[in-house]
Amino acid sequence: MTHLTLITGASRGVGAALVAQLIAPGQRILGIARGHNADLQARADAAGVVLSQWSADLAEPLAVAQRLGDWLGSLRPADFASVSLINNAGVTGALGPAESLPLSDLSRSLRVGLEATVLLSAAFLGATAGWGVPRRLMNISSGLGRFAMAGSAVYCAAKAGMDNFSRALALEQASQANGARVESVAPGVIDTDMQAGLRAADAGSFPERARFVALHSQGQLISPAECARRLLARLASPDYGSEVLSDVRAG
Ligand SMILES: NC(=O)c1ccc[n+]([C@@H]2O[C@H](COP(=O)([O-])OP(=O)(O)OC[C@H]3O[C@@H](n4cnc5c(N)ncnc54)[C@H](OP(=O)(O)O)[C@@H]3O)[C@@H](O)[C@H]2O)c1
Repeated sequence: MTHLTLITGASRGVGAALVAQLIAPGQRILGIARGHNADLQARADAAGVVLSQWSADLAEPLAVAQRLGDWLGSLRPADFASVSLINNAGVTGALGPAESLPLSDLSRSLRVGLEATVLLSAAFLGATAGWGVPRRLMNISSGLGRFAMAGSAVYCAAKAGMDNFSRALALEQASQANGARVESVAPGVIDTDMQAGLRAADAGSFPERARFVALHSQGQLISPAECARRLLARLASPDYGSEVLSDVRAG
């Protein structure tokens, strides 16, 4: 029996670390991102683990969600011991006061960070509703869904929307037979391209830049591998879903 895990933003950063740690016998993985990670593919192939990588732009999430639902519908639920979706892809987009940023950039960030999460979650929950196995949905949120920061208003909005979307989904699932367990998890501060982008921002339009430079210089970022270890431990925990808004910052 195989555990099936679907991960968005699987090409780099936290998502790639999640895939790397899932490559083991008894796992099947679907990664979704624009880019393809050849190293992960080689490792999965060598281990005899089925890793599929879809190249897809989650700024156009409708077609991806429809494809995901169709794909899940083509599988035999009896082949799987559990099924999980991790909505991990996210972007800060351009940093600065919202009114100074291109509207097209704000729109893309919101679609990748929130619309894709909504549509993929709905497709996943619908397509697996009749599967008689544990179903888990993990949305990768941020502390910025829970407090505000100037210069990243759309990112804050996407993560706050993700948090309350998750809380509402959890209520819906709780009343269903074999409802999915849902969490929206703040993952901590992680040494990825996203943090590099925050440190490289223009201090004039993004005054919080100094805080991210200090976090980095003080060695306060965790590695993607450590973050992935914490997230997968949370996903496997017997009490997964008991608190919808969670964080793994304490490890
Ligand atoms: N890093 C942190 O300190 C931190 C803190 C709090 C929360 N988070 C959250 O943790 C999650 C992972 O962040 P990270 O630091 O690993 O970010 P990252 O290193 O920037 O990686 C982002 C991932 O999302 C994918 N992605 C971006 N735009 C996409 C698009 N249009 N379509 C499809 N995939 C797209 C990227 O793949 P492609 O470019 O190949 O498409 C990549 O795999 C995000 O949700 C982020 O908000 C991170």
